Amino acid sequence: MPFVIALFFGIFFSCVKGQIIPGSNYYCNENNTVVEFKLSLLPHSAWQPILNCSLQQCNVNSNNNDNCRSSVTPCFDYHTRNNSRYCAPGILCSILEPCNNITYNCAENTSVCIINSCCSPQALCLPLSFVNFCKSGWLSTGSMNNARYGHTASVLTNGKVLVTGGFDNSGLLNSTELYDPSTGTWTMTGSMNNARYGHTASVLTNGKVLVTGGWKIGGGSVNSTELYDPSTGTWTITGSMNNARYGHTASVLTNGKVLVTGGRGSSGGSVNSTELYDPSIGTWTMTGSMNNPRYWHTASVLTNGKVLVTGGWEIGGGSVNSTELYDPSTGTWTMTGSMNNARYEHTASVLTNGKVLVTGGRGSSGGSVNSTELYDPSTGTWTMTGSMNNARYLHTASVLTNGNVLVTGGLNGIALNNSELY
Ligand SMILES: *[C@@H]1O[C@H](CO)[C@@H](O)[C@H](O)[C@H]1NC(C)=O
Ligand SMILES: *[C@@H]1O[C@H](CO)[C@@H](O)[C@H](O)[C@H]1NC(C)=O
Ligand SMILES: *[C@@H]1O[C@H](CO)[C@@H](O)[C@H](O)[C@H]1NC(C)=O
Ligand SMILES: *[C@@H]1O[C@H](CO)[C@@H](O)[C@H](O)[C@H]1NC(C)=O
Ligand SMILES: *[C@@H]1O[C@H](CO)[C@@H](O)[C@H](O)[C@H]1NC(C)=O
Ligand SMILES: *[C@@H]1O[C@H](CO)[C@@H](O)[C@H](O)[C@H]1NC(C)=O
Ligand SMILES: *[C@@H]1O[C@H](CO)[C@@H](O)[C@H](O)[C@H]1NC(C)=O
Ligand SMILES: *[C@@H]1O[C@H](CO)[C@@H](O)[C@H](O)[C@H]1NC(C)=O
Ligand SMILES: *[C@@H]1O[C@H](CO)[C@@H](O)[C@H](O)[C@H]1NC(C)=O
Ligand SMILES: *[C@@H]1O[C@H](CO)[C@@H](O)[C@H](O)[C@H]1NC(C)=O
Ligand SMILES: *[C@@H]1O[C@H](CO)[C@@H](O)[C@H](O)[C@H]1NC(C)=O
Repeated sequence: MPFVIALFFGIFFSCVKGQIIPGSNYYCNENNTVVEFKLSLLPHSAWQPILNCSLQQCNVNSNNNDNCRSSVTPCFDYHTRNNSRYCAPGILCSILEPCNNITYNCAENTSVCIINSCCSPQALCLPLSFVNFCKSGWLSTGSMNNARYGHTASVLTNGKVLVTGGFDNSGLLNSTELYDPSTGTWTMTGSMNNARYGHTASVLTNGKVLVTGGWKIGGGSVNSTELYDPSTGTWTITGSMNNARYGHTASVLTNGKVLVTGGRGSSGGSVNSTELYDPSIGTWTMTGSMNNPRYWHTASVLTNGKVLVTGGWEIGGGSVNSTELYDPSTGTWTMTGSMNNARYEHTASVLTNGKVLVTGGRGSSGGSVNSTELYDPSTGTWTMTGSMNNARYLHTASVLTNGNVLVTGGLNGIALNNSELY
């Protein structure tokens, strides 16, 4: 089947720019910006009827070093003269420059000389950035303006990601910034009324973002909450919680209310209390308590409407591997499967297939980990999955509209500004 990357390309030919086909947008990194491409029917490196040549598709199930993922983009098995193999999509022939036909070198060290292009009998330079299209695992993307940890990240209804507060390497932040997935870049937006760390941020059904609690300048947890309006880029104060908390969680339930769980209270202990915010009146009421007090845990709304709480730290008990479920119809909590690793200051994200991806955090020894695991709600069990490039804790993870998971910042000795995609 004939497939090619689209025509429009930038100044640099290693990335090709084009429109997105819904459900099949792919990205290529160039100078920390992301370029998108689409498929078309023009002659390309995987298929050349004039030369009667077609490239072998990569075997996505084999465990060879080309790291091909199974995807709607066909990826092909290119090779060099010494038979190093590279898995990349079918690339428009006109953008592949010839290699030196004596030394088999490319002018740019960001390309490799491949001999089976199907574009011409000559050896051509394959830009290595294309290999990213077919790799599984994590890719680097743009850096934030501020390094941050203990911040939040929320995918807005317009697809951008709002990052708020946290600490940088010198102090507590009231600043917030927006990530644009179509360009892979970050820009500053309105500052919050209060600098906060270990707070939460939730996108309400009206598109506004509710920020709750956190650690304040001078120390101690707060009960204050505020709302971000994406249309104006500004923040306003709303109702206070019954309990001050930081290192807690907040989840928007299917009925539009926001469930806040646990955290470290005003007396310094980890709490089991939970409360609900009603956006229509802007006030908070208490609901059922968890079986375990916890802070620096996670909470995720599953596709069945229940809320999965994972891990965390219990003052006196240490790092926790237990997880529990909240049923909004009864307002009660029940235990479910334990994770393979106890963790706190980790993340949890509900994937488009309904499973929950847990990443990084600090393990039982307190050190940061790169490991990740998946929860299957149908069985209530956990299995390990691919490790991140960086161990990190107090980072964020957001499921993008294309199903990828964007992980940002966190701590690993120092505050990190880098981000990666799953
Ligand atoms: C990437 O950086 C190089 C060198 O600085 C520059 O020549 C090129 O135009 C940049 N590419 C894009 C897409 O900005
Ligand atoms: C292309 O290759 C196939 C199989 O090797 C062969 O049967 C066919 O005749 C070739 N076509 C041309 C135009 O050379
Ligand atoms: C083959 O060539 C590539 C690129 O020219 C080089 O990076 C690689 O180390 C070589 N591999 C072997 C086994 O010589
Ligand atoms: C090698 O490349 C040069 C210039 O790029 C070209 O003129 C020449 O015909 C090529 N030789 C072969 C054997 O392809
Ligand atoms: C490519 O070349 C540049 C400049 O010569 C160098 O800084 C860079 O490390 C090289 N990259 C690789 C992957 O070899
Ligand atoms: C945010 O913090 C900065 C630096 O601490 C301060 O100058 C600024 O006034 C604060 N902004 C708001 C809206 O409180
Ligand atoms: C929130 O905290 C402030 C400051 O500690 C306190 O004055 C206020 O009564 C608290 N509000 C609620 C609803 O508990
Ligand atoms: C929650 O914590 C409170 C205070 O520590 C305790 O009295 C209560 O029994 C706990 N509730 C549950 C369900 O464990
Ligand atoms: C979870 O932690 C408990 C207590 O530390 C331990 O007994 C149990 O084996 C752990 N479960 C798993 C699945 O590692
Ligand atoms: C993850 O961490 C482990 C243990 O520190 C290390 O052995 C492994 O290489 C790391 N994996 C990646 C992908 O960095
Ligand atoms: C990101 O952090 C690295 C290492 O701390 C630093 O070299 C780099 O300049 C930072 N980038 C930005 C955009 O701040």
